[in-house]
Amino acid sequence: MLPFDFQPTTRIVFGAGKVDSLGELARELGARRAMVVSDPGIIVAGHAQHGVDSLRAAGIDATLFEGVHENPTTKDVDAGLAFAREFQPDLLVGLGGGSSMDCAKGVNFLYTNGGRIQDYWGVGKATQPMLPMIAVPTTAGTGSEAQSFALISDADTHAKMACGDKKAACRIAILDPALTITQPPRVTAQTGIDAISHALETFVTRDRNAVSLAFSRQAWSLLSENFGRVLDDPTDLEARGAMQLGACFAGLAIENSMLGATHALANPLTACYDVPHGQAIAIMLPHVIRFNGAEFPQWYADLMRSASSNGSPESRGGPEELAQLVASLVTRSGLIARLADCGVERDRLPELADEAAGQWTATFNPRPVGRDELLALYNRAY
Ligand SMILES: [Fe+2]
Repeated sequence: MLPFDFQPTTRIVFGAGKVDSLGELARELGARRAMVVSDPGIIVAGHAQHGVDSLRAAGIDATLFEGVHENPTTKDVDAGLAFAREFQPDLLVGLGGGSSMDCAKGVNFLYTNGGRIQDYWGVGKATQPMLPMIAVPTTAGTGSEAQSFALISDADTHAKMACGDKKAACRIAILDPALTITQPPRVTAQTGIDAISHALETFVTRDRNAVSLAFSRQAWSLLSENFGRVLDDPTDLEARGAMQLGACFAGLAIENSMLGATHALANPLTACYDVPHGQAIAIMLPHVIRFNGAEFPQWYADLMRSASSNGSPESRGGPEELAQLVASLVTRSGLIARLADCGVERDRLPELADEAAGQWTATFNPRPVGRDELLALYNRAY
């Protein structure tokens, strides 16, 4: 049994319509001026204004920063920082997908601790207290609401920087499944597979422990049972809620055990070819399950026993069956299953493998992975 230090930092409020309590919860934190960080898609859907209205109804001066892009970069954070310096918030709200929450955390680092986002790449680099933050996720994917990490890409080098500090963790996460119903089917597919990968990767990391395993297992159970349901009926609020909880629990598992080779392989595909994160994960995950499963078949058999797919209460098998189950979910969700179909050039795979080998997350994979193993995995997925 590995030792752990489990310190829950985020209050989690769950329920349909709970976004209406944003103002009240912000007031409990003593907020007077709230900066809501969101992206244009969420603003068009009306969710961001909903949040701002709730804050204003509670007597809080609230304003909206809408300059977030998918896979936020240092440029998005710098724009948010300039906005924050002007507005002088005492509370940050990340309202949207992982990009909005990560960008809000990035702004928090720079607004309270100064410097550049590169200064916080790694763990525990902030020396000053940070502003309280509330996360309101509108997708069921990254689980950023439950993590102390901000993922920000360097606008020049495209390197994905994981900046972690317990002070950056959200004080409150509001999980309102009604907010996730408006997301486009492509987003439901990509974020759903990403959340599934978080449950599966965290279950087998080198740092897996009693706490992370509890969250991984419950996340996998919720996600495997409900992903098909939200694909079939995007308005199924019950299933949407289960996906949102599953994604959040998977985020808590990451916070307590980190990720693995699937994420190491996915990041260079996003950086070099703009393959969306969930799409890159969808291609690589089945191959990593087979690779890790060769050494740890019992862990994957354990996951198969707690999988619930297509209404069948229990599935049997090991790594190969799990890889096939994930591959079938990828196909069913309409995502691409091979690198060749994403515009990735075969002769650049060695270069991508070099990049993947340098990813921090690779060090947590249960089987050691270097450039050669990662290149072999890219080749299998091509
Ligand atoms: Fe991910």
